[in-house]
Amino acid sequence: MLKRPSSTVLLSIVIVASLSFICNINIHAQKFVAPVWTDTLKNPVRNSASAATAGKKIYVQYCVICHGEKGKGDGVSVAGLAKKPTDHTSEAFQKQSDGVIFWKIGNGSSPMPMFKATLKPIQIWEVVEYIRTFANTSKK
Ligand code: HEC
Repeated sequence: MLKRPSSTVLLSIVIVASLSFICNINIHAQKFVAPVWTDTLKNPVRNSASAATAGKKIYVQYCVICHGEKGKGDGVSVAGLAKKPTDHTSEAFQKQSDGVIFWKIGNGSSPMPMFKATLKPIQIWEVVEYIRTFANTSKK
């Protein structure tokens, strides 16, 4: 007679199965998506020209290498990357809310690094302001 599997064994199977399911979703997530709540985040430096100027310095220091000087996703290190950096001038990109862009900069999505440990929240908002200056430059 076969012994019935103990509840510990059954529980382990359930845990392993759930974990592999969750990991599978992460591995195959192709899109860089921010949680819905980020739409409600308030940009404390909205439409501030001085914030955009401060953001430009940060962008040049940390982002241009991949996203390019004009934000078109054509930085010098693009060739070696598994994914192409997003074109920050595109309409599809620009139509996202400030909160979503803020969250994406903070959290990254490989090969894009996360910046929440490197930059203060206010600096990330400044970069968001600078990125907004790329709107409508895609055809220029
Ligand atoms: C190592 C190269 C690299 C660096 C450095 C980098 N990025 Fe990215 N970035 C990427 C790649 C690649 C993606 C696309 C990731 C994806 O789709 O999963 C991306 C995506 C993004 C997105 C999301 C676009 C979208 O809506 O899906 C934002 C916003 C962004 N980067 C901003 C920045 C900012 C701001 C900096 C500097 C503080 C920066 N990135 C630095 C490579 C980089």
